[in-house]
Amino acid sequence: MNIEWHHFFSTGASSITGSQIRQFFALTERPEVISFAGGFPGNEFFPQEDISQALSEMIMEDSRQSLQYSPTEGSYELRILLAQKMNREGGGYCEAGNLVVTDGSQQGLDLLSRILINPGDPVLVEEPAYIGGISAFKSYGGQPVGIEMDQEGVIPAKMEKTIIKLAEKGRKPRLFYTVPNFQNPTGITTGFKRRYEILALASRYNLVIIEDNPYGDLCYDGEVPINYKALDREERVVYLGSYSKVLIPGIRIGWLAGSRQLIEKVTLAKQSADLCSSSLGQQLAYKLTRDGYVEKHTKKLNCLYREKRDTMFAAMEKYFPANICFNKPGGGFFIWVNFPAYYPASKELLDLALQKNVAFVHGEGFSSNGGGKYSARFSFSQPCLEEITAGIKTLGELFQEIESAWMAKTANCR
Ligand SMILES: Cc1ncc(COP(=O)(O)O)c(C=O)c1O
Repeated sequence: MNIEWHHFFSTGASSITGSQIRQFFALTERPEVISFAGGFPGNEFFPQEDISQALSEMIMEDSRQSLQYSPTEGSYELRILLAQKMNREGGGYCEAGNLVVTDGSQQGLDLLSRILINPGDPVLVEEPAYIGGISAFKSYGGQPVGIEMDQEGVIPAKMEKTIIKLAEKGRKPRLFYTVPNFQNPTGITTGFKRRYEILALASRYNLVIIEDNPYGDLCYDGEVPINYKALDREERVVYLGSYSKVLIPGIRIGWLAGSRQLIEKVTLAKQSADLCSSSLGQQLAYKLTRDGYVEKHTKKLNCLYREKRDTMFAAMEKYFPANICFNKPGGGFFIWVNFPAYYPASKELLDLALQKNVAFVHGEGFSSNGGGKYSARFSFSQPCLEEITAGIKTLGELFQEIESAWMAKTANCR
């Protein structure tokens, strides 16, 4: 007889629940489905040939560097380049010693949760927030508490009210997690003034800010406001960066930048997690950054993704009924859609959409407060332009049917 594994799981393992999105990926990945669900980069934008050439050059030139283990904190030469990037882009003064290379920014979230969260701690997050952040905090017993947002980001007055309310119950939050640029899932970019206000609140209530910025370089209109990290004078901001969206996620390379005290602890935590990030990935990131390739490739991506964003936005304007609200994000991968309350909840709407072979992500998984019932995330990064238009048109027809049924119902009630 097989053993019962759940008898062996630790108490903490019960907090590991994973992402709701992954649970229905199998459905959305059916070849006949046009999927706006996954927040993955467009496969067709991966620079296969350039990567293949760079890898083979690297291995032939210096196989030790790329095939051997590397230091836990990451390759020194890559960290120098990353520090220079942070300094150039106003990421506050940064040296190699302020940085750890991570297995994507997701590992940064995991390591930070491991060293900063005690079971039961409230963690302030955006409402709605990135699911991977929520699940990392929960895995270590953190309890995400969502703070309402408007088009400028998290609302400072709501944040302060939440902190005071929690304090009245003897619960003091110590962390605020934010994706300030082209947020996943809403596409919202936190305004310049807002960043000052939030930082001032963090200072008043002694909060650490985790600034997760995988999309900031994918900017299709204008520029993003200055990073929290650059505004920070108290070393209270931890910055997470990533190569996943601007190059490829397959190398799993990101970085974490913060105070040296923090970096020391993160490095120890990483040692027991994986010894080091992929040396091959780090060398590739180093070579392609040093040669200016990543910067050039990002510019190209911005043109390509801008076209996808414009196509999705134009199709939504054309085909969605006027009562459905959505934003035009200045960058990133996501458009957040709000449905009127007379629509079926977005979870049921997704079932209806799947019957027509179109997928998106319903809003509830992104909420820590039981919200998102009438919201959904649409990602334009993966489907091609024709699929975007066709998928939105199909959904537009479905939504028109819902509108017509509602109008008939209300007319009958008069
Ligand atoms: C906001 C946010 N943070 C972190 C990640 C994880 O990215 P990475 O591939 O760098 O681990 C993602 C991935 O989609 C994301 O959207």
